[in-house]
Amino acid sequence: PLVSSTPLLEAARAQGYGIGAFNVHTLEMLQAVVEAAEETQSPLILQSTVGTVKHLGADYIAAAAQTAAARAHVPIALHLDHCTDFDTIIQCIRAGYTSVMIDASMHSFEENVIQTRRVVDIARAAGVNVEAELGKVGGVEDDIVVAEHEALMADPDECVRFVELTGVPTLAPAIGTAHGIYKGEPNIDFGRIERIAGKVPLPLVLHGGSGIPEEQVKRCISLGMAKMNIATEIRIIFSNAIKKVFAEHPSENDPRKYMIPAKQAVKEAAMDKMRMVGSIGKA
Ligand code: 13P
Ligand code: ZN
Ligand code: NA
Repeated sequence: PLVSSTPLLEAARAQGYGIGAFNVHTLEMLQAVVEAAEETQSPLILQSTVGTVKHLGADYIAAAAQTAAARAHVPIALHLDHCTDFDTIIQCIRAGYTSVMIDASMHSFEENVIQTRRVVDIARAAGVNVEAELGKVGGVEDDIVVAEHEALMADPDECVRFVELTGVPTLAPAIGTAHGIYKGEPNIDFGRIERIAGKVPLPLVLHGGSGIPEEQVKRCISLGMAKMNIATEIRIIFSNAIKKVFAEHPSENDPRKYMIPAKQAVKEAAMDKMRMVGSIGKA
C-alpha cells in the first residue's frame, strides 16, 4: 500500500539524504519513476498537481499509484503538490493520497497559519503528511505564477513560529529556487537553508528542482533539504522523446511506439535525480 511520506522524509533528514518527488501527468510517467525507484532501491514520492487532478481525476491517479505500491519493493507515497483549496485536499485524501501540500504562501503569515493548521488537523487524523510553504517560490507551477520580483525568501524565525503554530510535519521554505528551467543558475541562499535547518529539525522541501546544478542539489540536501521536487525537466524529457519519434516517423499512430521511448527517457532522468539526492539503496 501507499505509505505516508512523513517517516520516509524524517529518515532522509536524519541520515542526510534526499527523496525525489516527481510530478507525473500520465500513466507512463508514473510507471517510469516507479521503475527508476525500483531499479535504484530508492524510496519514492509520486506527485500530482491540482491541474493533473482535474485532468485525470484523483481516483484514477490514486488507483494507479496504489497498484504501483502493491507491486513495488520500495516504499511509495502519493503527494498532492501546491494545492490552494481545502476541498481538493479533502477529495485527494479521500481518494487515497498519503501526503498533501497546502500552499497558502500567497497570503499573509497569519492566514497561511490558519489554512495550514486546518489541513494539519484533518490530515493527522488520516495519517497523511502535510507540507506547507513559507516565503514565495518564484516561477510557474500550473496555475500558480510568481514573478521574479515577487519571489520572497523565508525568514528563519518565521519558520520556527510557523511550525510551532501549525504543527506542520514538513516545511518548504523559499530559499531562492524557482519553478521551471533557470535562465543561468539559481540564486540559492545556502546560509539561509543552514539557519532554517538549524532551528527547524523537520524535513525541509526543495522546490524548483529542475535545472539546479548537481553540486548545488547536494549542498542543499546536506544542509537539511530532505525532499526535492522535480516537475519541468521530466515533462520536457517526456515530450521531447515523443517529438523525436514523430519527427522520424510522421505517420506513427501506435501510442505504445512513442510512449516506450518517452517512458525510458523519464526513467533514466529520474534515476539520475535519485543518484543526485543520495536515495540509492535507501529503500
Ligand atoms: P521544477 O518544475 O523546477 O522541477 O519544480 C518542481 C516543483 O517545485 C513542484 O512543486
Ligand atoms: Zn513547487
Ligand atoms: Na526549477
